[in-house]
Amino acid sequence: MSLAIRTEGLTKVYRGVTALRDLELSIEQGDAFGFIGPNGAGKSTTIKILATLVRPSGGVAEVCGINVQRRPESVKPLIGYMPDVLGIYDDMLVGEYLEFFAAAYRIRGQARRQKIEEVLELTDLVEKRDAAVMGLSRGMGQRLGLARCLLHDPQVLLLDEPAAGLDPRARIEFKELVQELRRMGKTLLISSHILSEIGEMCNTIGIIEQGRLLFAGPIDEARKRLGTERIVMLRIVEDAEDNRATTALMELFRGHPDVEAMKPGAPGEVFVRIRKDLEDISFLARDVVRDGLQLVHMEETALSVEDIFLQVTKGQVA
Ligand SMILES: Nc1ncnc2c1ncn2[C@@H]1O[C@H](COP(=O)(O)OP(=O)(O)OP(=O)(O)O)[C@@H](O)[C@H]1O
Ligand SMILES: [Mg+2]
Repeated sequence: MSLAIRTEGLTKVYRGVTALRDLELSIEQGDAFGFIGPNGAGKSTTIKILATLVRPSGGVAEVCGINVQRRPESVKPLIGYMPDVLGIYDDMLVGEYLEFFAAAYRIRGQARRQKIEEVLELTDLVEKRDAAVMGLSRGMGQRLGLARCLLHDPQVLLLDEPAAGLDPRARIEFKELVQELRRMGKTLLISSHILSEIGEMCNTIGIIEQGRLLFAGPIDEARKRLGTERIVMLRIVEDAEDNRATTALMELFRGHPDVEAMKPGAPGEVFVRIRKDLEDISFLARDVVRDGLQLVHMEETALSVEDIFLQVTKGQVA
């Protein structure tokens, strides 16, 4: 797999303030990389360097193997950058705004009309074509920002807090749009403070604090590395006041060689801690059903991105 984004020893100092220290990033093509970290950690700085807008103080940044600092003009067509705050284009209509940027990307004639139509549809803004940019709600403004950075069909999308300020429906639509972009083979770098969303949209994450990368890698790997135990939740139908079925369920697995511990939850629920290296956990369901208990739900509880973030920023990972 070739790398869509690579940085090595990337450093940025703003008048005495070190925003980035020796940042090493590798993002493969087709990845959705979630970039998380507290305020002032250096996320926007990294994104702006990759977008050719900020000059690094040291180190190397590459997009699709091209040095961002040395060849910004070759990098620009490859990237779509959505800033955390949109510029002000007060008296333009949505359609005009997109025309303006398409022209800036030198997309002309029929191709321009087609492309604008396509991005309006993708971001669900067709009906807003003749609305004033200034009059758009914050969420619609975000969508317009995304539409703009898709105009020239870039390979790599750099989205700085794209979901901030979106209402619940717009968030769901945004998540779907991200999936669609991934299906199209695009690489996405998404910074966000909404960790649950990163968990749903991204396959890899990077955690940054005070300009230093604390962790980077696939979310699944982080789960495996940081997850100290494996818990499966079993839920059965419980009718009796005395929790008879739940007690029976716990009895069933007491002393089982693959079960390390058990804890009852709400009536009908039992959390079973299984051996960490276990491949096949189907015996849990099979034994419950064989015992005549009515199984309604079985789920292995996974470490959330919040859990990972808390553990990493507490310094619990080397
Ligand atoms: N133009 C600038 N001039 C001086 N300092 C800056 C400038 N831009 C950023 N900084 C500083 O660099 C550091 C990193 O800022 P950056 O905006 O990259 O953080 P961030 O991770 O995007 O934070 P947030 O989550 O708040 O958006 C901060 O200490 C910030 O004050
Ligand atoms: Mg920022």
